Amino acid sequence: MSYLDSLFSLNNKVAVVTGGTGVLGSSMVRALAQAGAKVAIVGRRKDVADELAAQIDREGGTAIGVSADVLNAQQLSQAKKVILDKFGAINILVNGAGGNMPGATIPTDRTFLDLKVEEFQKVVELNLTGSVLPSQILAEPIMAARSGCIINISSMAAYLPITRVVGYSAAKAAISNFTQWMAVEMAKKFGEGIRVNAIAPGFFLTEQNRTLLTNSDGGLTERGQSVINHTPFGRFGKPDELASTLIWLCSDGAKFVSGVVVAVDGGFSSFAGV
Ligand SMILES: NC(=O)c1ccc[n+]([C@@H]2O[C@H](COP(=O)([O-])OP(=O)(O)OC[C@H]3O[C@@H](n4cnc5c(N)ncnc54)[C@H](OP(=O)(O)O)[C@@H]3O)[C@@H](O)[C@H]2O)c1
Repeated sequence: MSYLDSLFSLNNKVAVVTGGTGVLGSSMVRALAQAGAKVAIVGRRKDVADELAAQIDREGGTAIGVSADVLNAQQLSQAKKVILDKFGAINILVNGAGGNMPGATIPTDRTFLDLKVEEFQKVVELNLTGSVLPSQILAEPIMAARSGCIINISSMAAYLPITRVVGYSAAKAAISNFTQWMAVEMAKKFGEGIRVNAIAPGFFLTEQNRTLLTNSDGGLTERGQSVINHTPFGRFGKPDELASTLIWLCSDGAKFVSGVVVAVDGGFSSFAGV
């Protein structure tokens, strides 16, 4: 293996991906497996996780499906045990579970006064606590070994809040902040062997935003068109366009990189709109 290949290799690493059953998560699972990692796919839909794991095994990789809700400490502890029993270590945690929720999205004919606070709390819980709690439980072996990395998934909504999605925007801004906080906490308490970074995807068409961005006939909603107009590349991202950023951040190639949020967004976050 050349020096450059070795810098980006994840051979013999064990990666855990929460939300590995989702559109972006499953693409990240494939990328990690292709880079040589053994992957634990965590989601509430065990059947979907198992099916993806079987596909990866057929393609020559190594993966298992593990069931857990990222907000349930007991399930996460059980998941950790299953992963450690199977693979013997956890070196990489990708906190991929998350997304917006229809109930927490203010309809165009309503205002902030109509927002149900329980719906706001649910979306903040999923996106923020749903990364904090798995970092405590699934990344505990990383801290015990003083070696490994955590990748959080932020969003364009973290840079500037996005209309109608107040809870999701607040939660993703908090994820970028948590990424920086954790990067410092890990380095100060456990040393430079633990790095914490985030990826902020631009707009990718997935299950959690499909009804906001597209109509039932597949055409763009007004909001979907507005996203495209605001993306200098003029298109949505493709899930596999996150792969190389993810592998770089997880590998020795990013040995001196911690606390950054890398936008993979077709220019969205740099565009003022004029
Ligand atoms: N799509 C975009 O444009 C975009 C942009 C920026 C950031 N993101 C972020 O990227 C991440 C992946 O989203 P996606 O677009 O790929 O959405 P998706 O296809 O809807 O996937 C969401 C994933 O989250 C998991 N999940 C949801 N609630 C969970 C819970 N309580 N416990 C465990 N897993 C849970 C789901 O798994 P189960 O149903 O199996 O539990 C699923 O795997 C999210 O953090 C999202 O906010 C997406």
